[in-house]
Amino acid sequence: MASKAHFVVVLSILSLFACSGNAQLSANFYATSCPNLQTIVRNGMRTAVTTEARMGASILRLFFHDCFVNGCDGSILLDDTATFTGEKNAGPNQNSARGFEVIDTIKTSVEAACSGVVSCADILALATRDGVVLLGGPSWTVPLGRRDARTASQSAANSQIPSPFSNLATLTSMFAAKGLSARDLTILSGAHTIGQAQCQFFRNRIYNETNIDANFAATRRANCPASGGNSNLAPLDTLTPTRFDNNYYRDLVARRGLLHSDQVLFNNGSQDALVRTYSTNGATFFTDFAAAMVRLSSISPLTGTNGEIRKNCRVVN
Ligand code: HEM
Repeated sequence: MASKAHFVVVLSILSLFACSGNAQLSANFYATSCPNLQTIVRNGMRTAVTTEARMGASILRLFFHDCFVNGCDGSILLDDTATFTGEKNAGPNQNSARGFEVIDTIKTSVEAACSGVVSCADILALATRDGVVLLGGPSWTVPLGRRDARTASQSAANSQIPSPFSNLATLTSMFAAKGLSARDLTILSGAHTIGQAQCQFFRNRIYNETNIDANFAATRRANCPASGGNSNLAPLDTLTPTRFDNNYYRDLVARRGLLHSDQVLFNNGSQDALVRTYSTNGATFFTDFAAAMVRLSSISPLTGTNGEIRKNCRVVN
């Protein structure tokens, strides 16, 4: 019986590893096959962020939208063709997801150094970390060894990426569906300390909601009319949209969250205490964000002989 119990314990430990999703990913996956990979990606991101600071934000969002649809498998990078429907034209991505050219440029440099070895999914994971660091955020070790999907799912992108109009219960259950907690939701939403959003995604909030600072609502209305101007941009962080810091949480406490889905994290609910903590403690936010990014980046990767190493991030080989 003792050995049976032992077997069960070993099995459950094994399945815990399997559930964590990154059992087969490792930081040194390309150490011998592409030793300069990290330098190449960092240089590519430095050029991109120097040209346009917002690009650090855009790549971070691209990675989130990749990971939430069948795992971090580069599926968002595939172009639509006459015979293939990808994720780029799903509701949350169309005229919104950006940064594809940056990933293409980095992929070209990586292929020049080590052809046919590094997946687009891993390039996106590394580029994301480097974009955050270049904008002043925390760093983390990126687990590597993801392979690229040979398929994509527009319908999964439509149904599994959260909407800015969602309430806290919906956001929590959508994150839970990916193995992430309500706490992870609050931590990862801190990504909105950088980047921009279009008027169409916050119009209802600034015209119709009451849990909003009046001056902030008035300021935002000036560039987001009640009708028209759908794509007019506003910063997700009121003060420092190109600086990765904890100001997003200060904004939430001041009822200056831009999206409905931001302010629900501080609206007399379960996440208020954590939002307050991060609003006064940037170091804790940085530590927690880095750890949560590793969890996000470990969602159901393709490994081993699954998937492929794409030659061109936009097309299946
Ligand atoms: C919790 C649910 C979330 C919702 C509903 C949401 C929704 C949105 C929306 C509507 C935008 C503006 C898009 C546009 O106007 O074109 C946006 C931007 C952004 N999101 Fe989220 N988001 C969420 C979580 C996240 C997470 C977890 C991350 C990354 C870890 C993230 C990173 C970003 C970034 C960096 C931007 C700015 C992109 C840019 O400037 O190009 N978001 N998000």
